[in-house]
Amino acid sequence: MATLLPRRVRSLASLAEALLTPHGVDRYLELVDPMLVRREIRGRVTAVRRQTPDTVTFSVRPSRAWRDFTAGQYVRLTVEIDGVRRTRCYSPCGPQGGDLEFTVKADPHGLVSRYLQETTRVGSVFGLSEPDGEFTLPTPRPEKILLVSGGSGVTPVLAMVRTLVAEGHQGEIVFLHYSNTASDVLYREELDALAAQHPGLRVVHAHTHSRRGGDLHGFFTKEHLAAAAPWYRDAETYLCGPKPLMDSVREQFAAEGLSERLHTEEFTAPPLTFDAEAAEGRVRFARSGRECDNSGKPLLEQAEDAGLTPEHGCRMGICFSCTQVKTAGRVRNARTGEISGEENEEIQLCISVPVGDVEIHA
Ligand code: FES
Repeated sequence: MATLLPRRVRSLASLAEALLTPHGVDRYLELVDPMLVRREIRGRVTAVRRQTPDTVTFSVRPSRAWRDFTAGQYVRLTVEIDGVRRTRCYSPCGPQGGDLEFTVKADPHGLVSRYLQETTRVGSVFGLSEPDGEFTLPTPRPEKILLVSGGSGVTPVLAMVRTLVAEGHQGEIVFLHYSNTASDVLYREELDALAAQHPGLRVVHAHTHSRRGGDLHGFFTKEHLAAAAPWYRDAETYLCGPKPLMDSVREQFAAEGLSERLHTEEFTAPPLTFDAEAAEGRVRFARSGRECDNSGKPLLEQAEDAGLTPEHGCRMGICFSCTQVKTAGRVRNARTGEISGEENEEIQLCISVPVGDVEIHA
């Protein structure tokens, strides 16, 4: 898996690390080969395939600092686009202990997903974070497991199915997956082959925009639940997908008093610190031409107070969907307290607080 350096090279690298502080040896090793970095994690793409016209599936060989993930977790993947580092969260979809594989669906408005879908090649190198997230299966495994996913939400759930099959899970597993039509189903052949091999696994394909080619049709209903897994009330259910699917399933489980048996990726807000009293300077949103006094609140709120509607998701620094390029000035990361003053860097608006004058490309 990870690149192993000969002992002599490792000791030279440690010596260099000491001599090259504060930048550390990684910055220099990266110029030779990004996979040689010691502290940060990099991944080199070793295989690429495109299952549908708007997705890309790629396997990654991680550098030596990588530690394995738990099925269902996500990883922050960083790419550099036009000189700006951009980070997004993706869930590996291989089994625990197996290949590190990602599938990314290009969002027509998503800069990073489109970049990955269009440009990923064998040999591409990305930055990776440690795996993160609590959306994982318990140990010991429940006897009855219902997995529900929609669209590209298949990835963490697929990692769970692959892990359970690899472990030889003895109980019952139903995987209910929603896609628009039969031609949008990711991993169809592999899922059907897994179900054929594993007696306890049943894969149920639901198509929301087609009346043909699936086991179920239309959007989620309680009848779908009963048809896919009649025992769902006794199961532990794991859910990942677009918001309307998540909302419908949550409502149904709440109505039946089963919310405790439904598991989704729940993000917990970290403690954020703001000091509105000490705020000074002006905030300029360059593309829209809006400007305001710095109120000391996070830039997402300041943008909204100025009448803008920036894209956002979690509002707590996890999903990276609120990222924008800061073209000038300094900001404080409200989670870490770190102050950053680089020009043309990508920041998360929801957790970035201006320190004096700041300009954002929004
Ligand atoms: S990181 Fe999710 S909205 Fe900012």
